[in-house]
Amino acid sequence: MNDSSRLPIGLFDSGMGGLTVFKALAERLPGEDLLYLGDTARLPYGTKGRDTIIRYTLKAAQKLVDMGVKMLVIACNTATSAALVTLREHFAPLPVMGVVDPGAQAAAAASVNGHIVVVATEATIAGGAYQQAIARIRPDAFVTGRACTLFVPLAEEGWMNGPIVEGVARRYLADIFSLEGGRAPDARTPAPDTLLLGCTHFPLLQEALRNVVGPGVRIVDSAATTAQRVAEELRATNLLRQGDGPAHYSFLTTDNTARFARTGSLFLGRNLPDDQVSLVDL
Ligand code: DGL
Repeated sequence: MNDSSRLPIGLFDSGMGGLTVFKALAERLPGEDLLYLGDTARLPYGTKGRDTIIRYTLKAAQKLVDMGVKMLVIACNTATSAALVTLREHFAPLPVMGVVDPGAQAAAAASVNGHIVVVATEATIAGGAYQQAIARIRPDAFVTGRACTLFVPLAEEGWMNGPIVEGVARRYLADIFSLEGGRAPDARTPAPDTLLLGCTHFPLLQEALRNVVGPGVRIVDSAATTAQRVAEELRATNLLRQGDGPAHYSFLTTDNTARFARTGSLFLGRNLPDDQVSLVDL
């Protein structure tokens, strides 16, 4: 056993969305301590420039590293897209995992005809990380990216379904999925059969998205595949925690602990009491 195995896994997100990854990790690795940091003071990252995202992500990750973690999981698609390579170089030999490759892997496996639609933040789509990751795994795939900026505040507000959410989704996706007589971007490509949720907030809107794209489209996200990759990496590096005591979870935020607890409960799928959330400065 490696001595560092007793340390927690550090998870980082721009806000509460990464709690969907936290949840998947806690289910997959119930014996692991988890330390989560949400940079709510600077949220959203998805509309910011690449250099700013890298700067913010480095600071947040440094905080977790200073507190002592055995692995970093960037539970944010925007931060992974912009900063994964920089973080790996900066914190080597600490293992740093992102959510983009696992999400791409899930979509490439789910799609039958190879036409995958990625919905994500503006920065993630513009950076092209998902498009590149899918092309590496499945060179025959055709990827359509669409920035869906308004999905983030909708999820944070707890508006997860209903006519307003479906209306917003329809507006973003109608042309791609040929809804309401809209035209597909290229008549020669097959209709998309897979929708990849390339943003940690979007799994909350899954029901509304299902109503919009219809039953024939597979909807996938990166949470479960990320948890699986983390488990494999911990095993490979001899870092799995061996103790039999209950796992310890800590939640840190850079702003408004009460709001983090309230909104975080939606992402976590269980009540997160205020007093389990601590305020930190970066
Ligand atoms: N966590 C971000 C992501 O997964 C969404 C929120 C933001 O824009 O900061 O891309």
